[in-house]
Amino acid sequence: MKTLVAGGAGFIGSTFVRRRLEAQPEDEIVVLDKLTYAGNRANLAGVEADRTSASRFRFVQGDIADAALVAELTLDGDFDAVVNFAAESHVDRSILGAEAFLRPGVLGAHVLHETTRSLAERRAASATRAPRFLQVSTDEVYGSVPTGASVETDVLAPRSPYSAAKAAGELLVQAYRTTYGLDTLITRGSNTYGPYQYPEKIVPLFVTNALQDLPLPLYGDGLQRRDWLHVDDHADAIGKVLDRGESGSVYNIPGTGERPNVELTRLILRYVDRPWSLVRHVEDRAGHDRRYAMNGARLAGLGWSHQVRFDEGLAATIAWYRDNETWWRPLLDADWAAYYVRQYGARLAGSVNG
Ligand code: NAD
Ligand code: TYD
Repeated sequence: MKTLVAGGAGFIGSTFVRRRLEAQPEDEIVVLDKLTYAGNRANLAGVEADRTSASRFRFVQGDIADAALVAELTLDGDFDAVVNFAAESHVDRSILGAEAFLRPGVLGAHVLHETTRSLAERRAASATRAPRFLQVSTDEVYGSVPTGASVETDVLAPRSPYSAAKAAGELLVQAYRTTYGLDTLITRGSNTYGPYQYPEKIVPLFVTNALQDLPLPLYGDGLQRRDWLHVDDHADAIGKVLDRGESGSVYNIPGTGERPNVELTRLILRYVDRPWSLVRHVEDRAGHDRRYAMNGARLAGLGWSHQVRFDEGLAATIAWYRDNETWWRPLLDADWAAYYVRQYGARLAGSVNG
């Protein structure tokens, strides 16, 4: 199988590429990634250093919204599948400025759909199997879920610019399926944690801050709940849906148990052996979704189950950040410092101890 992986230099995409090339010795992958602040060639260094993976892997730097580049890539490579991870992925940044989220979320998704459509037409002419298009989406499209668990048929009710851009991408998938008969799939993954996550999200932010004895900015009362999913499980579930998913379907990928942010913070501090006094209660995120939770029965029906327990996954992730300072230190550059001041400067100045 030959797959075009858009956004494959990010956190989840690079994990998918690494694990897929290892598990499927015949597979070939081309990664197309713009290398935004969150994209990082170092995430794929292991793939490029491994002889058996490297010979089946190619990296192309570019924007999924660049129609000419994407058309050239697909003329070159007759892909069996297109998997789209590419996105601006941080809710706080979408609140600071929404426009950057629409380029990959809407225009980029459109270009990838058009490309898959031309691939499908070429393949129909030669009577070969149509390419699959898998859109990597998120539980955040359901909006905040006070009780119970979202099922795939629930109405989409995104509440942040990030989740609205993700929902827009999903609507395009459905439109291209209905109008042009594309072979499409959507996955909605839960909050993901693990190695190689850019340190803006809560787990790597709190771990790297704690390792540096810096404050941990906990939003509001810290009782918002998230259902944590290890990145290896997330990547493998996407692979399962790609191989076995029913065409046109959406699959939830839940985590292994929801927790309030205060409890997550407590666990992180315990594993890094730092005191609770590092915690600061800061002004809440605007429109903060209180809770996400999903029902995973449809995915379980494909024969998939979690392999990573939360306590073990979190301990291993923290150990990884402790041992791989050479990966995350260079990310804390001038752009990071400017973002940090914008996002947390006033919040920390007006904070109270946890
Ligand atoms: P990430 O920010 O680590 O990676 C995103 C990647 O997309 C980066 O490598 C970036 O360079 C690339 N990219 C951005 N815009 C691009 C463009 N226009 N053209 C080409 N490449 C572009 O994000 P992640 O956490 O790995 O998330 C991957 C996908 O999974 C996203 O679509 C996200 O919405 C979804 N998701 C994430 C989570 C989570 O908890 N992190 C949960 C569920 C779903
Ligand atoms: P985050 O990692 O940004 O993921 P998402 O917004 O996609 O759920 O945030 C996870 C939770 O942690 C969310 O409830 C917001 C909270 N949070 C903080 O309390 N402080 C922070 O500095 C960050 C980044 C997040």
